[in-house]
Amino acid sequence: MEKSSTGPDLRIAPSILSADFGRLAEQIELVESAGADVLHIDVMDGHFVPNLSIGVPVVEAVKRCTDLFLDTHLMITNPEKYAAAFVDAGADSITFHIEVASDPMALIEHIRNLGAKVGVALNPGTDAATVLDVLPAVDILLVMTVWPGFGGQSFIESCLRKIELLSGHLGEEQWLEVDGGINLDTIAQAVEAGADTLVAGSAIFGGPDPATALERLRSAALRSLDTELEA
Ligand code: DX5
Ligand code: ZN
Repeated sequence: MEKSSTGPDLRIAPSILSADFGRLAEQIELVESAGADVLHIDVMDGHFVPNLSIGVPVVEAVKRCTDLFLDTHLMITNPEKYAAAFVDAGADSITFHIEVASDPMALIEHIRNLGAKVGVALNPGTDAATVLDVLPAVDILLVMTVWPGFGGQSFIESCLRKIELLSGHLGEEQWLEVDGGINLDTIAQAVEAGADTLVAGSAIFGGPDPATALERLRSAALRSLDTELEA
């Protein structure tokens, strides 16, 4: 995976789940201009999670209006069935949940053969040990810090220990993405625990000025990285 050519390796990933879908292209352009590193797309099936969200046609439309890396988070029961359609639509990475993968290594190979980066995600209640075997084979580890299904929930602090533990198992090129409840009060804790890719939905799109919200989150994350380096 590409590392940032300037400054510390840190990515802010706005989640369009909290965007105004009536003005989606405009909202994406705002965060792209404000320096978003990737765009996080939450796909829900009303089965793995108790909500429905974005599907393939929306990913196709998003692809047409941005050059950002499309980081696609599949909160669905049958990722093996739909991964190809999302890659065809323009997804740059496909992240599946370990809880629903009957043969994770085969799924990883399938996604890689489609030409996309591969991520594995785990829920707040899922033990770190469940992903250890597959970690060397993925590009992205996504640790959920809320129960998936909805934006705007509170960060679950007890997940920090899991982030710390798993960060010790990742190589330089792998992303450690944290998703759920990231805002100005919680981003430093996630970065200090080892996260380098921070998903933020409501903290960016929930207010009137997504661009400034994104810049503030990045500054807060960079400050905590600096403090860590000085310590
Ligand atoms: C939740 C999704 C998240 C969501 C995060 O199931 O996976 O990506 O958009 O939203 P916030 O940042 O509002 O917690
Ligand atoms: Zn997500």
